[in-house]
Amino acid sequence: MEKNEAINIVRPYLTKARMEHTIRVAETAVGLASKYGESVEKAELAAIFHDYAKYRSLDEMARWIRESTLPKDLLDYHHELWHGPVGSLLIEREHGITDTDIKNAIYYHTTGRANMSQFEMIIYLADYIEPGRKFPGLDEVRQMAERDLLQACFLVSKNTINYLMKKNATIYPDSFHAYNDFNRKLRFNQAFQ
Ligand SMILES: [Fe+2]
Ligand SMILES: [Fe+2]
Repeated sequence: MEKNEAINIVRPYLTKARMEHTIRVAETAVGLASKYGESVEKAELAAIFHDYAKYRSLDEMARWIRESTLPKDLLDYHHELWHGPVGSLLIEREHGITDTDIKNAIYYHTTGRANMSQFEMIIYLADYIEPGRKFPGLDEVRQMAERDLLQACFLVSKNTINYLMKKNATIYPDSFHAYNDFNRKLRFNQAFQ
C-alpha cells in the first residue's frame, strides 16, 4: 500500500492533532528503520496505522475484544490499551493488511512485550520520541535512540511504568514483560563487553 493511500484511509478516523502525531511518528519511524536496517516502507506504513483504532467507541473496541481471539484480560485494564490490539485486527479485516511485522508493531506499540522484534521496537520507540512529545526524561531517550535501540526501548518501558505507577494506574503484564526482557538483554550484552 502506498503512503498516501494509507494516510487517506486513516485520516477520517483521527483528530487533526492525532493525525499530526501520526505523521511525526511515521517520519521518526522512517529515520529509525533506515538507521537500524529495517524496511523503511513497512515502518512508515505501520506508523501511519498505529493509532488507527484510537477513536473507535469503547463499545466497539470491547466488542472486537470479546468476539475475536484477542486476550479477554484487556477488558480488565484501561481502555487506552485496547486500540493497539484492536487496530492490528482492524487493519487486516478492513484493509487486508496481513503483514505480521506491521500487525505486531501496531498490536504492541503501547505496552511492548517480551522478545520484541527490532521492527516492533522501532514503532514503540517512534511513538514515544516523535518531536511533538513532551515527557520527563525524553531528551535522554532521544539521544539513546541515536545510538542503541535496545537501551532506548528499555528507557521507554521504564519511564512508562514509572509514569503509570505515579498515577496509581494498573499496568498490563506485557509492559512488565517488555521491561524485564530489555533489562536482561542489556545485562547480557554488558557481560560480554
Ligand atoms: Fe497509540
Ligand atoms: Fe501514537
